[in-house]
Amino acid sequence: MLVKFAVVGGNASRDLGKRIARRLKAPYVEAKTRVFPDGESKITFGHIPKNSIVLVVQSTYPPVDTNLLQALSIISQVRKVSSKIYAIIPYMGYARQDRQFLSGEVVTMSIIAKMIQAAGAKKIVVVDIHSKTALNHFKIPKENVSAIPELAKYFKKMKLKNALVVSPDMGGSLRAKKFAGLLNVGFIALKKSRNRNTGKVLIQSSKVDVRGKDLILVDDIISTGGSIIKAAQFLKRQKCKRVFVACTHGLFVEGAEKKIKKAGVSRIISTNTIPRNTSKVDVSGVITESIR
Ligand code: R5P
Repeated sequence: MLVKFAVVGGNASRDLGKRIARRLKAPYVEAKTRVFPDGESKITFGHIPKNSIVLVVQSTYPPVDTNLLQALSIISQVRKVSSKIYAIIPYMGYARQDRQFLSGEVVTMSIIAKMIQAAGAKKIVVVDIHSKTALNHFKIPKENVSAIPELAKYFKKMKLKNALVVSPDMGGSLRAKKFAGLLNVGFIALKKSRNRNTGKVLIQSSKVDVRGKDLILVDDIISTGGSIIKAAQFLKRQKCKRVFVACTHGLFVEGAEKKIKKAGVSRIISTNTIPRNTSKVDVSGVITESIR
């Protein structure tokens, strides 16, 4: 059966939306967005083709709430002409608020899932979401696409000798294992702790054998860079050769990119779930494959 798609790229993911449309040979629908000085957004649509599955592509990186509200507005508008809407949120903001860590905390991810569904999305597609728990707040069909094979392909071309993959925390072990497997190299995971009140990161590992090796630190998100910086400094003290960083979502808030470089990292590679200087890896292919 021939499925007809149309793609709407929100303000936060215009280039990625266009790439997905090109791959699907689908019409790209313009949703012109103007943000007023007070922060309000005004969205004006072009023609939305009827009887097609409409893919709404919009990551919710900072300004998180603005990009989220734009995504909800676009989905609601598309709902007027199509009941088949896939919300493609490559970077899902708030996914780290997927459960109550401290008593009294609001689980905002659950509210966001309800809002995306209420706006009219019939399916949710995300890339390397921070946790399965976050995705489980959605009651509609869901897809978590992995960018790890694409990131690994990029690093494979670098032909690093004596390489080792490192996860900055135990939670990222499986990700690092998968990445390392694709490069056919080994991996280790560091022990990291974060103070839930201050956000301060501490590497608890004492000694690792990385002397003379080229290391690839792999993480899902880089926000303030705290985790990567602490890991890179620790690994440098253990006399490794070079440290590279691969991540799916490069938020880089509070000057994180500069601080990471200052900590001795040779190169940072991220994907275009968030458009940044470091976005050398395109996820339009893996997203397209998952919805075809
Ligand atoms: C934590 O579990 C995540 O996988 C990332 O390591 C973390 O969110 C990165 O945040 P930051 O860059 O602020 O340390």
